[in-house]
Order: sequence, then C-alpha cells, then structure tokens
Amino acid sequence: MSSKPPADVDQATFWNEDGGRRWVEHIDQLERMLDELSGVLVAAVDARSGERVLDVGCGGGPTSAHYASVVGRAGEVLGVDISAVILEVARRRFGHHANLHFELADAGSHAFPPARFDVLTSRFGVMFFADPVAAFTNLRQALRPGGRLCFMCWRGIDENPWMGVAAAAAFTVIPPPPKPAPGTPGPFALGRRERLEDILGAAGFADLSLEGVERDITLGPLDEAVEWLTRMGPAAGPLAEAEPAAREAAIAAMRDELARHQRGGAVVLPGATWLVRAQVG
Ligand SMILES: C[S@@+](CC[C@H](N)C(=O)[O-])C[C@H]1O[C@@H](n2cnc3c(N)ncnc32)[C@H](O)[C@@H]1O
Repeated sequence: MSSKPPADVDQATFWNEDGGRRWVEHIDQLERMLDELSGVLVAAVDARSGERVLDVGCGGGPTSAHYASVVGRAGEVLGVDISAVILEVARRRFGHHANLHFELADAGSHAFPPARFDVLTSRFGVMFFADPVAAFTNLRQALRPGGRLCFMCWRGIDENPWMGVAAAAAFTVIPPPPKPAPGTPGPFALGRRERLEDILGAAGFADLSLEGVERDITLGPLDEAVEWLTRMGPAAGPLAEAEPAAREAAIAAMRDELARHQRGGAVVLPGATWLVRAQVG
C-alpha cells in the first residue's frame, strides 16, 4: 500500500509530493486492495442516518462517500486529508454530494469544531502522526460525549507478507534501508497492540477493543504488482538509489518471489490488521 518516506522527509511533504503522486497514479489498484478489508470496517463503524462522521486520512474519498450515502441528508461527513494532490481526486469524484465535504488539513493538529462528530473513523489513515498521543487527543475533542472511534490499521510488517516478501527478495540483492526506530510514522507504526493501547489510553479514549482481522490481499496481475511494489513500499527508496544492474537484479528477484504467490491470475498474499474501537472516555 503506502510507500515509506525517507527518514528526512516529513509526512506532509511526502503525501503532497512523491507519496501522494504515486498514490494517485496507482489509486484504482490500491483502493481495490483495501476494499477487501473495507466491508469489515464499514460494518463495524455502523454509521446511521443523521450521524456526523469524520473520516481521517480519507484519501480519494471512497469510504467518505459510502458514509455520506448512509447518513443521508440529515447527517454529514467530513473527509480530511493532508495531501492536496490526493484530495483533488476525492473532490473530483465525490465533491457533488451535498452532505459530504473534504478539507485539506493535518488531522493531528487541525482545529475541528469541538464535540461535533458522532463517529471518528479511518481506513489506514491514522498511522502517520509524528506525535500520535497529541493527534488522537486532538481528534477525540472533535467527538461528542458518547461518540465512537472505529478505525483500521495494519499490524506489523512481519505479519503483512503482501508488503514484506517482495522487499525481502529485493534485499537479497541490494542493501536494505536502515531499520526505522519503533513507532516511526508509516503504515506499520500502530502495529503493536501495547503501543496502540497506550496511545489511545493517553489520548483519553475508553472501552478500547482491538480485534485482529486477517485477509488475503490481492496485489493484481504479476506485472502490475511488480510495478507498484518497486515504486512504493520498503524497497522503493533503495531501488531508486541502486546502480542500474543491481536494480534490475533486485527487481527480477522481487518478480520471482511474487510469481510464487499467484492465484487465478493475480498475486495474492496475506495481510493482518487491527480493527480498533473505542469511546470518548
Ligand atoms: C494509506 S492512505 C489511505 C487513504 C484512504 N483512507 C483509503 O483507504 O483509500 C493514507 C492517507 O492518509 C493521509 N494522511 C497522512 N497523514 C495525515 C494527517 N496527519 N492528516 C490527514 N491525513 C493524513 C494521506 O495523505 C493518505 O491519503
């Protein structure tokens, strides 16, 4: 799914430049992958007619649009994202819904109207905060008393071969990047149960429940899977820096590895997430 920015690039820059551009270039494929998990998230969110929903890191807006159709004209949905380039896609696709608005903002620090929303949700958009306790505290203040938090995030990369195996194959040929410090913002930053519990507890959420949800993730036909995994994910940076011959050999190793995981004309690998639920304490 997401690429990781190099350590010296902040998330706002990453999602507005290379990371955002690549997300948009591969958006149909990436959203198809995430759709396999959406059903579980959307059912757990259980948005109802008339509710106000805040969708954090809404990306190209598919979940925001879904909630807008469920809450109806009496409700409202705000999709917030830090990336202008990705939000442009959301607005183009779904900007015509009267009860759905998109806002360009850092959800971790944006001044939301206090106690405005019934539901705070996200499909893989809350793992990128530099200070997660401050960010979730800020988001909690946007929820009304009794409001609910329900989001999905990845568990650790070791439990997510859909992202890990191709990169591991590349790193048999080219050197891996330095291992990020635990908790560094990125797709797997909230992978550890204890860390998630500590962050959300410190941010003032109560009745926390973490449910493991595992699904096979379809990366698309082999050529497509190789293409986006060389541009996004842990191998992207090292591949960009490698000498041409080493790069070619590393991509061949990734291709061989991914080819072993084909089913019905597509590369399919396991993925593991947390479905996180909590209330305003
Ligand atoms: C992995 S994508 C998921 C997009 C979308 N939720 C989906 O499922 O298609 C993560 C999104 O979070 C956004 N994001 C990252 N940090 C953010 C922040 N601090 N505030 C708001 N959005 C953020 C990115 O720009 C990106 O669109």
